[in-house]
Amino acid sequence: MSRKRLEGKVAIVTGGASGIGAETAKTFVENGAFVVIADINDELGHQVATSIGLDKVSYHHCDVRDEKQVEETVAFALEKYGTLDIMFSNAGIEGGMSSSILEFDLNEFDNTMAINVRGSLAAIKHAARFMVERKIRGSIICTASVAASVAGNRGHDYVTSKHGLLGLVRSTCGELGAYGIRVNSISPYGVATPLACRALNMEMSKVEANMKDSANLKGITLKATHIAEAALFLASEESAYISGHNLVVDGGFSVINSCVPTTIKK
Ligand SMILES: NC(=O)c1ccc[n+]([C@@H]2O[C@H](COP(=O)([O-])OP(=O)(O)OC[C@H]3O[C@@H](n4cnc5c(N)ncnc54)[C@H](O)[C@@H]3O)[C@@H](O)[C@H]2O)c1
Repeated sequence: MSRKRLEGKVAIVTGGASGIGAETAKTFVENGAFVVIADINDELGHQVATSIGLDKVSYHHCDVRDEKQVEETVAFALEKYGTLDIMFSNAGIEGGMSSSILEFDLNEFDNTMAINVRGSLAAIKHAARFMVERKIRGSIICTASVAASVAGNRGHDYVTSKHGLLGLVRSTCGELGAYGIRVNSISPYGVATPLACRALNMEMSKVEANMKDSANLKGITLKATHIAEAALFLASEESAYISGHNLVVDGGFSVINSCVPTTIKK
């Protein structure tokens, strides 16, 4: 591709040391952006930054549960690159995927909410404070999930957190629209990443095979690159009038109920 869609833009990617975040950091840089990878996995974060190129990417330790660290990460981006145009609030955990509600550990619930929802609120808050002050028409993107729209019979904390995240995106898009700041989310179907492996208790190849089996859209495997492309779209001027949108990248999974034809036949 010749045209760089984020030329000279500055982005923070939380949870950028692995999976979807690492792939998005790479895609943003390939499109001309400078990126701060913010994560708690320092070793992996440094490795990813080095592999993409330290002239364009920096790693900064940031536990999104701690508002101070989020604020410091924004300050780091400003000091290093002079501005902030894009906040990709992507850090997330799978939580208690196999726990029954009958035995659910409320500390686990609190931790999932602290990372998946509260962490995004902190990221939106501190990115927006700078954007408002400097009159930057920025783009804020949160990684939600198909679990923001549909539930299974487990993962109660995860499903709750991702439903909550959609509310946060819609609510902040309402306030920040007045400043020209866009807030959107991306909702991926299953992608074989360390998070998905832990959630399903399977290795990468098994996760991918499992996801392919239950996918609606056949003939293609959902990869982190597909989510990175969606983030690139929402970060770039190509989505200039899109705000408050939940960009679902699930091949139709969340709008299909495979029981419906059977029910009709019966
Ligand atoms: N993989 C999937 O199937 C899938 C599907 C839908 C949504 N998602 C969402 O995508 C996002 C990225 O997940 P992934 O699949 O790439 O997983 P991943 O485990 O590969 O990456 C998540 C990253 O977040 C970081 N992280 C965890 N807790 C953190 C904290 N407190 N502060 C800062 N960073 C922290 C981890 O160190 C890791 O680098 C998550 O929000 C997840 O809920 C993933």
